[in-house]
Amino acid sequence: MIELYNVTKRYPGGQLGLSDVSLKIAKGQLVFLTGASGAGKSTFLKLIYCEEVPTEGNILVNGRNVSSLPRNKIPYLRRTIGVVFQNFRLIPRKTVFENVAYLPRILGLDRKNQKKLAYETLRQVGLAHRINAFPVQLSGGEQQRVAIARALINQPEILLADEPTGNLDPELSEEILRLLLDINLRGTTVIFATHDRDLITRVGHRVLTLREGSLADDRELPGSFYSQEADKTGPAPSEEAH
Ligand SMILES: Nc1ncnc2c1ncn2[C@@H]1O[C@H](COP(=O)(O)OP(=O)(O)O)[C@@H](O)[C@H]1O
Ligand SMILES: [Mg+2]
Repeated sequence: MIELYNVTKRYPGGQLGLSDVSLKIAKGQLVFLTGASGAGKSTFLKLIYCEEVPTEGNILVNGRNVSSLPRNKIPYLRRTIGVVFQNFRLIPRKTVFENVAYLPRILGLDRKNQKKLAYETLRQVGLAHRINAFPVQLSGGEQQRVAIARALINQPEILLADEPTGNLDPELSEEILRLLLDINLRGTTVIFATHDRDLITRVGHRVLTLREGSLADDRELPGSFYSQEADKTGPAPSEEAH
């Protein structure tokens, strides 16, 4: 559960990142966060994973107030939150395995169990066969899937995705969307920030719209994604009969 109470973020230069936002996101929910560039999407996510602190208001993650979390407690919070970004942020000189198994908690395991966990997580994103590749050998969509595997390896309760499809063409964007939907179906709370309204209208779910830092809209949209998938599998039997 994520709760925001009258959260305002003003940056040191005076720019308004978020303005008096209050809302709740239930455990296991999938939420899209949308709005034009500069509307406050990244600020919203950064406040949740404590990259930034609010100027006013409170943020509770699983009942714990993270708006005033001491620096030394942040690593504990981050274990429950995975984050992915538009630009993947993989380490170029490390293999897929090393990128995914980089976290301290994983490094605490012996090599065999590290491999096993990395392999299982990569299999979940469909990339187990590229475990020894380097990022440069992968497509953009594959690189993003590695980044998602890295975010998932701690089995976080919450996955935050900041424009994860921003660098991908529509087909690959849809693959990533499908993967995040799948991750959500397994129980992870997902917040998917994107300015791509097309992508959202295909899926539905709860959509939060930010405008100049304020929550301008919060609604449940019906999606056509699943019925479109059904269409793709071929003509309906009744049509085949003709
Ligand atoms: N580190 C920062 N310092 C100063 N202003 C910032 C910083 N990050 C974001 N902002 C400002 O906060 C507002 C919201 O930005 P952001 O959260 O990045 O929006 P979005 O992700 O929707 O594009 C913008 O006006 C932006 O210029
Ligand atoms: Mg942003």
